[in-house]
Amino acid sequence: MRRILAVLCGLAFIFWLPAGNAPASDLNAAGKRVAEEHCSRCHVVGEANRMGGIGSTPSFALLRRMRDWEERYSSFFARNPHPSVITVNGLSEARTLPPNAVPITLTEQQVDALMIYVRNMKVE
Ligand code: HEC
Repeated sequence: MRRILAVLCGLAFIFWLPAGNAPASDLNAAGKRVAEEHCSRCHVVGEANRMGGIGSTPSFALLRRMRDWEERYSSFFARNPHPSVITVNGLSEARTLPPNAVPITLTEQQVDALMIYVRNMKVE
């Protein structure tokens, strides 16, 4: 009985962890995943797609080097061309036009994680 209880507590702990109490390194990894999964379609995000992205789209490193990177990244979903493709639940304006590409939907938590990843990015 004790063992079962211990296992249940362990499981509860694992499920409780991602709910806002994840250590910063987990958030960093989560942000990296969001970037590689969703942003690398157009941006060069890092080593994972160094030769990828769309030519005319600025790389993540270039944007990160800008003095106002934080403002740009924290509101990217409201800046063109993103609103036609990316929706952040609870933050984006309602879309009036159909997306011109497979739409991407993110949560605020994913955007928070993304900010941590970009903040920690090496940009040499
Ligand atoms: C459909 C292609 C596409 C996708 C997907 C995309 N971007 Fe972009 N992004 C662009 C283009 C093109 C620009 C340059 C716009 C310009 O210079 O006017 C841009 C610019 C930006 C900028 C700078 C905005 C500004 O006004 O300076 C940021 C920050 C950014 N993207 C972040 C992201 C993040 C984070 C993701 C993933 C969640 C993402 N983008 C996904 C195409 C895309």
